[in-house]
Amino acid sequence: MKLLILNGPNLNLLGLREPDIYGKRTYADLCAYIRGVCAEVGADCDIRQTNHEGVLVDLIQQAYGVYDGIVINPAAYTHTSVAILDALKAVGLPTVEVHLSDVRTREDFRQVSYVSLCARRTIMGRGFDGYGEAIRWLAEQLHAAFK
Ligand code: DQA
Repeated sequence: MKLLILNGPNLNLLGLREPDIYGKRTYADLCAYIRGVCAEVGADCDIRQTNHEGVLVDLIQQAYGVYDGIVINPAAYTHTSVAILDALKAVGLPTVEVHLSDVRTREDFRQVSYVSLCARRTIMGRGFDGYGEAIRWLAEQLHAAFK
């Protein structure tokens, strides 16, 4: 089983960026955490971060036929990007949306998520553990589908 973990803009600045919201751990810490969970559930994973919407679209398109599922934190593009939604719909891979913070309790402009329209699940407000939950849930679904 192969999973693609995608992270959008400014997540590379974890640790520095608004630590009261996103915590003090760094992006490297997040990647190490994700790799640990993937190893635990027996999934291979590639982790990508980009600040560019079009690069996220390219990575989603290129995932077709290569990965079995996607975990995505589209960051600010969550709230604006029809292109990312369309790419996810086009490839049709099972996708879980993750947010470190609980966007429901934040500004009005964060209350819309385009990606939620096609994500099988959305997990928010659980910090790094949200990624763990997403990977474990996706792995369970995929194991069941492969049986
Ligand atoms: C975020 C929430 C988004 O609203 C924000 O733009 C981000 C991070 C989160 O992980 O909580 O960059 O996706």
